[in-house]
Amino acid sequence: MHTREQKRVLITGAAGQIGTELTIALRERLGNENVIGMGHRTKAPKELEEGPFIYGDINDLESYEKIVDEYEIDTVYHLAAILSVTGEKNPQLCYDVNLNGLYNILEVARKRDQRLFCPSSIAVFGNDEETGEVVLKPTTMYGVTKVAGELLCDYYYRKYAVDVRGIRYPGLISWKTEPGGGTTDYAVAIYYEAIRNKKYECFVRADTKLPMMYMSDAIKGTLDLMDAPLENLNQHSDYNLSSMSFTAGELAESIAKRIDGFECTYVSDNRQEIADSWPDEIDDASSRNDWNWDPAYNLERMTEDMLANLEIKLKEE
Ligand code: NAD
Ligand code: SER
Repeated sequence: MHTREQKRVLITGAAGQIGTELTIALRERLGNENVIGMGHRTKAPKELEEGPFIYGDINDLESYEKIVDEYEIDTVYHLAAILSVTGEKNPQLCYDVNLNGLYNILEVARKRDQRLFCPSSIAVFGNDEETGEVVLKPTTMYGVTKVAGELLCDYYYRKYAVDVRGIRYPGLISWKTEPGGGTTDYAVAIYYEAIRNKKYECFVRADTKLPMMYMSDAIKGTLDLMDAPLENLNQHSDYNLSSMSFTAGELAESIAKRIDGFECTYVSDNRQEIADSWPDEIDDASSRNDWNWDPAYNLERMTEDMLANLEIKLKEE
């Protein structure tokens, strides 16, 4: 039986791209039994079978409250969301999960004095039509829900002192769990296809440049932000975080250097428009100043690591 001093953490969206790896990292710190993974419809990944994994819907407030009370949760990493491409296919679902779901998470946290991590995204940005400047004016429903979500989180901090923190993750690249429904998914799929077939048809142009990050840096940033003393934070739910920016063409070149004969072709589809609406780079000086953010991976190091791990994973499949 855990004691009240022991942290008990719930991760929503635990079967997702970030959730799988964050659950593993938190279990290493806090012990398997103190980190509860919450999935929705996706089956729990094998790596998460060592600790509690339950299924629930963040839009069902009553059952979510029951889960939180049963496990005496004091900290929630809220990763359940609908990403940009799925969000454009089904904007109503995106609104419902990303905003009504978030509202439930915040309300439960307010009533139980829980700490929260609620991530945002580079998708909060858009281009000003007149000046071309990068501004907080997204053009996707996903981006709209992320900006509104940041504001809602900050409201709960100011009004109710809920300690809620969040990062605007760039596109995340990882090999453990595949991403789904995002615009930056090409930057992961390219590695799988390079190993399987030595070719990839990319759905954005070669000159499309976006901020990206390797998953181990994203996990480190998440844990570092949650570990930072509250008094050091000048922002709460909207910290920019960057580590590298590259074009789809540069990504393909870094793979071609290591896989003989790899070829990438480019056929843009409707995801190009979403990618074009996001900034090439973001300034993360406040994360570096407030909580010492310092990423470890650049494109070449990441490609080495991705290919080495994926070679092993795909051989085992
Ligand atoms: P993901 O799509 O891999 O996982 C999200 C999970 O949410 C899914 O497994 C899904 O089953 C679950 N979910 C959906 N609706 C739900 C509901 N009603 N109740 C409970 N669970 C539900 O997403 P991810 O890539 O791991 O992203 C996690 C968070 O990070 C999201 O807030 C996302 O916006 C943000 N983010 C991700 C990236 C990225 O590149 N992966 C970049 C920027 C921001
Ligand atoms: N990777 C995410 C997406 O493409 C960005 O938030 O939707």
